[in-house]
Parts: sequence; structure tokens; C-alpha cells
Amino acid sequence: MNFSSKPDRSSSKAYKWEKYKGTDILPMWIADTEFRCASPILEALHARVDDGLFGYTLPAHHSEALDAIVDWCKRQYSWSIQADWIVWTPGVVPAFNVAIKANCNPGDTVIVQSPNYPPLLAAPAINGMQRATVDTIEINGRWTLDFEALELAAADPKASLFIMCNPMNPVGSVLTQAELDRVADICKRHNVRLCSDEIHCDLILDDVKHLPASAHAELEENSITLMAASKTFNVAGLGTSFAIIPNSKLRASFNKASRGIVPWVTVTGLEATNAAFRHCDDWHQAELAYLKDNRDYLVAEINKIEGLKANRPEATFLLWVDASGLHVDDTQKWAESKGIGPSPGRDFGAKSFFRINFGCSREYLVEAINKLKS
Ligand SMILES: Cc1ncc(COP(=O)(O)O)c(C=O)c1O
Repeated sequence: MNFSSKPDRSSSKAYKWEKYKGTDILPMWIADTEFRCASPILEALHARVDDGLFGYTLPAHHSEALDAIVDWCKRQYSWSIQADWIVWTPGVVPAFNVAIKANCNPGDTVIVQSPNYPPLLAAPAINGMQRATVDTIEINGRWTLDFEALELAAADPKASLFIMCNPMNPVGSVLTQAELDRVADICKRHNVRLCSDEIHCDLILDDVKHLPASAHAELEENSITLMAASKTFNVAGLGTSFAIIPNSKLRASFNKASRGIVPWVTVTGLEATNAAFRHCDDWHQAELAYLKDNRDYLVAEINKIEGLKANRPEATFLLWVDASGLHVDDTQKWAESKGIGPSPGRDFGAKSFFRINFGCSREYLVEAINKLKS
């Protein structure tokens, strides 16, 4: 467990580092961490490799991994789920696209919060749907959904699905009970289904609780919850995530929409998920403590830089930085000219912002701050 190390990721062709290869720009963009996996995950993967056979494994036959998810939901969220509610998906991105195919008719409107993770913003058009965008608003230094806009969007009879992101990427807020109640109420009154992307749900940095959408009594029959071990345990390259769909009809239509297009999850991803959820609690807690300190350092330092402003994210390892005070045309170019490579805010729907990934050694953050101050 060494979160402060600075691994050389060139031999693994890490996308984050490939982008700025051969430059002095410190990559701080795509959402994976610089943290080497917990030993139990590495041991599970070694054991799987030593087996030497990588033929087909039907994910539904991996009962240990399914039980690990059931147990994880119970321990983390006091949520009792059944193993047969779980549908493995080779990524959360394919999962929310499948959710659109399964729940919308051509020409329907899909509601999406903005700013947001770019593939969530892109998903309605990819599937031939209209997109209704609901803004993110700032209340007392915290970002949240514009619930009045959500109400209006949901009232459109063409609106059939809300694809939500909670915890929110890029702003890092976690819906409170009252906020999730409000989402549930709006969805119910307007007959809008919910697909909740909760890929960042095990990265809660403050004393707040993550509330899975499908655990909500008013949403259980009307929602799909998407989760993964990928962000928290740094195994995104293994292409394994899962949907939890309590309603058997919704589950059947999700499976039908996936048929012939969506491959099974990988044998390594199954092992990693199983090991992560069973044997990595200490590593997980240490990671959260490290991320929390990183967050506090970064927020304090960013807010000291003239022209930059950031609210404290409650979750994730991502900081959403408002660079509008710089009054420059291209905030991404400005950051790169200073020597750091964040994610461009324009890709998320807000061009005067950029997003810094702080899932890395503190030394990188110090280096980044020095560069930004120079
Ligand atoms: C909100 C959100 N959803 C989904 C993903 C990607 O999911 P996957 O790699 O499982 O497709 C990301 C990655 O950054 C993300 O931030």
C-alpha cells in the first residue's frame, strides 16, 4: 500500500500518459488513479493467469463474484440485493447506452445533467434520442442538480429516461436523501425511468452516505443502478462492471437490448471484482484517507491562484476547477501552457472549466500547483 509512489506507466501504455508523451506536461486527465492495485487483487489475477486457460467463462457461473457484490452492497449501503438482480456489463458506458436502447423509443427524450461525463452527454444522440439537459447549480459552495429544470424536463411527455450520475462527475457531489427523494418523486410523477451511473460510489471522501438509486423504495421497480470496482480499485482496464436491476421486466429488456452486441465481461475482471469486494477493505480505507488529504491540499491551493476557483468535492478523485476568472479564450490551452494536462471542461459541457485528477502521489499535486503558480 503505497499511494505516494510514482509508477512509470509507459510500459503499460497508460492512456493518461500516452497523451502527453514526450512533453513536459503532467497528465492529470482521464479518470484512473496512479495507485498500484491492492495485493489481494494482484494475487487473484496471478492465480488466474497461472491457471493458463482463458476460454469462455459464463459470468453468471461465477457465483463467488456475484456473492461478493451482494455482500458488498449489504456492507457498504445496507442494501439487500439478490444475486439474480445483477447483470454483468463490460463497462458502465455500454451499460447506460444499453439502458437507453432498452427503455426508449426512437425520438424519445433522455434527460442528462450538465456538465457531465462526456459519454453520458453523448449517449442520447448515439441512440437516436433527443437530449434534455438539466443544469448543475451551485448552492452555498456545493454543486447540485437544478431540480426545477429536472421537473420541467421530466414533464415533457417525450421524456422517458433520466441517466443520472451520482456521485456526480465532474463536480463530485453526492445526492443527499432529500435530493434522491426528489429525483424519485419527479421520476414517479412523470413516469420517467432512471438509470443511475454510480461508478464513483465507493470513493466517498466526506461524512456523507452514498444512496444507491435502486435501493430507494420509490425507485426500486423503476431504475437501473450501474456500479463497478473499476474506479475505486484501479482496475478499469479489465472492462468489468455491473448493473443492478431489481425489476425483472426491466432486467429482461436490458438483457434483450444487449443481446448479440455486448460481450461477456472478462475472466480477469471477474476475479479482480471478487477480490476487491472481499479482501481489500484496509486498502480501500487507506486510499480514501490519502485521497481526502489530496483533495484538501488541492482545493486550498487552487483557490489561492488568481482566476481559479473550486468547490470541495464530496466524492471521487476529480476536482472541477472554474477558470473563468482567468478571462482566457481556451482554459485547456492555458493549463497545458503551464505544464499540466487536465480534462478539458468543454468536453463536459463547460468550456471555462477544467477537471484535475487527484488520484495520484501528493508530489504530483505539489508539482502541478507549482507549475500553475509559475
Ligand atoms: C461517471 C462515469 N461513468 C462511466 C465511466 C467509464 O466507465 P467504464 O470504463 O466502465 O465504461 C467513467 C470514467 O471516467 C465515469 O466517470
